[in-house]
Amino acid sequence: MPAQSFNPPIRTLMGPGPSDVHPRVLAALARPTIGHLDPDFVTFMDEVKGLLQQTFGTENRLTMPVSAPGSAGMETCFVNLVEPGDKVVVCVNGVFGGRMVENVLRAGGEPVVVADPWGRAVDPNKVEATLRAHPDARLLALVQAETSTGACSDVRTLVDLAHRHDCLTIVDAVTSLGGSELRVDAWGVDAVYSGSQKCLSCAPGLSPVSFNERALAKVQGRKSKVRSWFLDLNLVMGYWGDGQRRSYHHTAPVNALYGLHEALVMLQEEGLEQSWARHRRNHLALRAGIEALGLELVVPEAERLPQLNAVSVPAGVDEALVRSRLLQ
Ligand SMILES: Cc1ncc(COP(=O)(O)O)c(C=O)c1O
Repeated sequence: MPAQSFNPPIRTLMGPGPSDVHPRVLAALARPTIGHLDPDFVTFMDEVKGLLQQTFGTENRLTMPVSAPGSAGMETCFVNLVEPGDKVVVCVNGVFGGRMVENVLRAGGEPVVVADPWGRAVDPNKVEATLRAHPDARLLALVQAETSTGACSDVRTLVDLAHRHDCLTIVDAVTSLGGSELRVDAWGVDAVYSGSQKCLSCAPGLSPVSFNERALAKVQGRKSKVRSWFLDLNLVMGYWGDGQRRSYHHTAPVNALYGLHEALVMLQEEGLEQSWARHRRNHLALRAGIEALGLELVVPEAERLPQLNAVSVPAGVDEALVRSRLLQ
């Protein structure tokens, strides 16, 4: 039988991502494709950068969407900022901290793990003790919103600790951007990456990143070449850098960027702080319902993300069956 067009089922997405994509974003994705060096596209790229700067709370000139999902944003940070032999303190309180360790190893660095229990925030006291014990460490990496459990870590405090020990910081904001407070400049975050498919309600496949001048200086002053051609920011900036003088690096995912732009316009219309408040409001309503059913959330209240609510399945209940029912 010849293949047919694919018509996906209509679902309400309740997993940790992708989130439901707004019809305005879906409509934007379907607009006519133009060239990735078309003068109109180049102007549009500047607007995408500006909207991302607002969303991250930064004036970093190196703020752009990597043309691939959140994992590529993660790799962009690690391959550019870690040189062979560099010692990197990595906070691990779930799946994604674990992936950071893997990234450090593959970039030739030496990870020093600060482990916290799954379902809990990163403990700043342990991080401080580790930074003291490893004065030669030059980077601290942490996940703000640990998607595997729903725990939220205190980025401001952890970044502050890192700077007091002369470390740059890499923050994973894949599940936090647009959903909970993140202030890249005010908190001094040096490098941050996110994803399009979570609290931005955009389609998956793009990874907004932002690097401040200190992080950029580290990338530009590397002794060795970045161990990835595609993600080497020294090259990518020829396309996503300042002004109209853009040169070909790769063919940007033009339509995906229309979608991201629309999602960011919608976020601007709503207001960033209003979006954080909306996630909080909906979280409180959901929590009330969950608790009324006699169920419990996994993460202690003070460390909970509003946008990702992991519910403990009571003993004797088939968890796979629950998920299958929810899907249907
Ligand atoms: C915290 C976190 N980091 C990184 C990623 C990787 O993003 P992606 O699946 O878009 O590659 C995810 C995806 O869920 C995530 O939740």
